[in-house]
Amino acid sequence: MLEVRSLSVYFGDFAAVKKVSFKVSKGEIFGLLGANGAGKTTTIRVMCGLLIPTEGEVQIGDTIFGKNNNGNNNNSAELIKSRIGYMSQKFTLYDDLTVEENWKFAASLRNMNNGIYKKRCDYLNQWLSLGDRTKQLVGKLPSGLKQQVALAAALFHNPDIIFLDEPTAGVSPYARMQFWNLIKILASEGKTIIVTTHYMDEAENCERLSLMRAGEIIALDSPEKLKHSTFPHGIWGLAEEKIPPCLREEKTLSMWPCGLNYHMVTHNLAHWEDLKKQHPILANATLVAPTLEDVFLELVEGRSR
Ligand SMILES: Nc1ncnc2c1ncn2[C@@H]1O[C@H](COP(=O)(O)OP(=O)(O)O)[C@@H](O)[C@H]1O
Ligand SMILES: [Mg+2]
Repeated sequence: MLEVRSLSVYFGDFAAVKKVSFKVSKGEIFGLLGANGAGKTTTIRVMCGLLIPTEGEVQIGDTIFGKNNNGNNNNSAELIKSRIGYMSQKFTLYDDLTVEENWKFAASLRNMNNGIYKKRCDYLNQWLSLGDRTKQLVGKLPSGLKQQVALAAALFHNPDIIFLDEPTAGVSPYARMQFWNLIKILASEGKTIIVTTHYMDEAENCERLSLMRAGEIIALDSPEKLKHSTFPHGIWGLAEEKIPPCLREEKTLSMWPCGLNYHMVTHNLAHWEDLKKQHPILANATLVAPTLEDVFLELVEGRSR
């Protein structure tokens, strides 16, 4: 459905995205994770045809665009525009317009004819059970609902691929859950979803995750496989107050707080056995199942580097 090949984006001398490649299949929920500034939004902007990459190309269906074929091929630009929906990092809704007016505006940007617009309007309204709230000003809506209205605006032309850039930033846990239910419905209908998030519980919903760091993809796999490959020997957990202070300086051990415990990892089991001999208290540590939070801290935040 979508393939990114060796994509690089430079702003002057600064490489925001470096040789990024991945494929996303139809109906997949694909997550982009990474700290702020990792290059997620820039990658999405290229995939949406909003930014010409310095190197590399993007293929959506049979259409290829990138460094060597941009702008001058209007056909492909239009084709791409009709196939993708984009919900940007900042909701692009007008607070002082009603839901319906916002939708009408979004549809007019797509040159949608009135008949189709009305049908989509009814469909999306029903899907989100908005009822009369479509007559309310967007600025007066709770943030969870606002975000659903923004999603609907991105779906008006019924795109095959939907890009969601931090769609749930700043909404309540309940609204986040509702939003993810909508995303799962879209994927089950065959829509391809590319989403960025800082919430690891949300990342669990992705079929595959690509972890970015300083413009590069440093890991790409399913959540389960990432946990296993990052921590092949598991993680040791021990209450914070039991950790000898000197261990925090230990080079062969990475550790970070997790709830009331500390999570500890060695990349070599022999190191762990050595440490246990030096610090018998470590015998009380228990093996815990790695979470995506652990994977993120280890790979993206670079505890082990
Ligand atoms: N238009 C731009 N001009 C210069 N630098 C930019 C521009 N857009 C993004 N950057 C820089 O590129 C890097 C990646 O940004 P971005 O893709 O927004 O990261 P993310 O979405 O992962 O937080 C950041 O260091 C950012 O400051
Ligand atoms: Mg971003």
